Amino acid sequence: MFDLFENAAQTPSGNAPDSTKTFVVSIGGSAVIGDKPNTTLMAKLASLLSTLHKEGCKFAVVVGGGKTAREYIAAAKTLGANNFITDLVAIRVTRANALLLIQALEGAYPEVQTDIVNARAVIDSGRIPVFGGLVPGFTTDTVAALLSEFLGAAFVNLTNVDGIYSTDPKRNRKAARYDKLSYEKLWRLMARSDSREPGSHVVLDSFTCAILKRSKIRGLVLAADDLANLEACLRGNAFTGTTIQDEGAEASKAPAEETADDLEDVDY
Ligand code: UTP
Repeated sequence: MFDLFENAAQTPSGNAPDSTKTFVVSIGGSAVIGDKPNTTLMAKLASLLSTLHKEGCKFAVVVGGGKTAREYIAAAKTLGANNFITDLVAIRVTRANALLLIQALEGAYPEVQTDIVNARAVIDSGRIPVFGGLVPGFTTDTVAALLSEFLGAAFVNLTNVDGIYSTDPKRNRKAARYDKLSYEKLWRLMARSDSREPGSHVVLDSFTCAILKRSKIRGLVLAADDLANLEACLRGNAFTGTTIQDEGAEASKAPAEETADDLEDVDY
């Protein structure tokens, strides 16, 4: 059987998703919630996941908070909430976004999930469990990484950039995307830009990276708004994005970066 996660040229199209694999899809709030929820993109993502689900692919989905969560975080702080309460407020927003997605996601369990351990039973019943946030101090990516760990699933992060870059591509023209990234290098990239403040914004936070690393979870980071690319990825075809993989596997060197030590100098 083909390697579902091999980020290399394969048949141009038509691969069926591997029904023995499970994907945890973490949909970044920053990708699907702008000034208002991007219902067009949410519907397209839901349609693609439903189609693949009908073909036998198993999914769990986690939805982030996006701009709405950040506005509620700011409001909570202004009104005197501490970080724990502020996170609780943001978690409610992520769950509202998850409930929105459920409306378009055929095959989804109709209620937002709040217990990772229940996800297995929901999947085994033929449904897709959909989560928002769970615990103050976490991010929805952390929830997705823990789900991946529990389910033995790949971690698919859909975000507003097309992979993980050597520096912030929105601020640095020299930023270069990694096609493949080892856990060690991912850790060094992210640890220096991580913050546990409510609403902090990095591609993957350190808790998430630590979980991927400790259980050698295959991570796939790609743009949420390129549906054809996402379908290629989930069908095991070549795709544009970053594959986070085992130390033993070859990690590509981003063109803008010469050595790992250069990471110390990156303005992320
Ligand atoms: P996320 O930061 O995960 O949402 O959650 P997001 O918008 O998808 O993030 P991007 O797209 O990666 O930027 C929003 C906020 O909700 C709280 C945190 O304050 C987080 O910043 N949260 C979320 C928690 O406290 N616990 C959780 O389990 C999830």
